[in-house]
Amino acid sequence: MQVILVDPTDDTMFASWYRVYAAGVTHDRVDVPLYSMDEFRLMLSEDPKTRPWGREVAAAVRDDEVVGGSFIDWPERDNLNHGEFLLAVPAPLRGQGIGAALYDHAIARLAERGRTTLATSVDQPIDGPEQPAVGFLTRRGFSRVNIEMRRALDLPLPEGRLDELHEKAARASSEYRSLTWVGHCPDEYAEQYTRLKSLLSSQAPLGESGYQQEVWDLDRLRGEEKLLDQQGRTPITTVAIAPDGSLAGHTQLMIPKDDDGRVFQWDTLILPEHRGHRLGLLLKVINLRRLIEEDPSRTRVQTWNAVQNGPMNSVNNELGFRSVEESQEWERHLVTT
Ligand SMILES: CC(C)(COP(=O)(O)OP(=O)(O)OC[C@H]1O[C@@H](n2cnc3c(N)ncnc32)[C@H](O)[C@@H]1OP(=O)(O)O)[C@@H](O)C(=O)NCCC(=O)NCCS
Repeated sequence: MQVILVDPTDDTMFASWYRVYAAGVTHDRVDVPLYSMDEFRLMLSEDPKTRPWGREVAAAVRDDEVVGGSFIDWPERDNLNHGEFLLAVPAPLRGQGIGAALYDHAIARLAERGRTTLATSVDQPIDGPEQPAVGFLTRRGFSRVNIEMRRALDLPLPEGRLDELHEKAARASSEYRSLTWVGHCPDEYAEQYTRLKSLLSSQAPLGESGYQQEVWDLDRLRGEEKLLDQQGRTPITTVAIAPDGSLAGHTQLMIPKDDDGRVFQWDTLILPEHRGHRLGLLLKVINLRRLIEEDPSRTRVQTWNAVQNGPMNSVNNELGFRSVEESQEWERHLVTT
């Protein structure tokens, strides 16, 4: 067996990689979110000079057949010691050393780039049997550093629910106004918005993960918007504006072009000095309303939050999100000599 990097412009090889990777990632799980093949290809084709993350995929090949796949990525603007990977082997092929070969390859690729904190995630369905990755990673010196819960909100919401929640949140936040945009951030707010994007990466609870605050500037923001345009993903963003005109927080939903009715909750952040006014609930309610106007055919929103993130989880509970599976974050520190 050999592990080789896959060229995303090699249609046949890339399609085999995707088929096998998707089979490995989705096995035994519920309503699994996964980038489409085109979305992956676009992410892998970003300009190396400007991309915020480097990315590559590899295939384990045995007797000319792809039998396993990996996705390897590493930040290039911040967190320069950090590298991530995800390995996937279809269930019927597990326990034959394919995962181990993909692992050795991924670690070597990240170590070559000087990445000493290696991170990956394990998706553990609630009440399901323990995923094989737990033992696999433990035996390779990894420990679990954080647990996020993937939760889903079924749409449409019960009649009147959003009105009720809107009224409640608006009462506590009457000094703030809100602004919603679909697609790109207006120029007027772009600079401030990059500050929120950057802070989100350090303000959301990360457990024992060593991941540091991300560096966001206008180039990174516009670069992300360009990639989303190419992927056919439409972001809907609502911000809170404080009485002095500054941004107090934001929330964002992402509508993929074709993903079986799913919508993804991306960022939500209220700056510490503006917390306690029910702005988190207000922004989410306004954004959901806009989503329903923009695309009433969507059937559910999926979100991920650290289990210890009390305030965010309580907003999500009020909205009616239900738990689907844990997304556990695992890390290992390479010893360098
Ligand atoms: C985790 C995952 C990638 C492991 O893949 P796998 O191909 O079953 O892994 P391997 O066969 O290499 O290793 C599993 C065990 O099989 C055993 N094994 C059986 N036959 C083997 C062989 N011929 N050669 C090597 N190992 C063999 C080994 O004991 C190994 O145990 P170890 O962890 O002590 O080394 C796979 O379960 C998977 O795709 N899970 C879903 C995706 C996921 O959760 N990824 C985890 C995040 S990276």
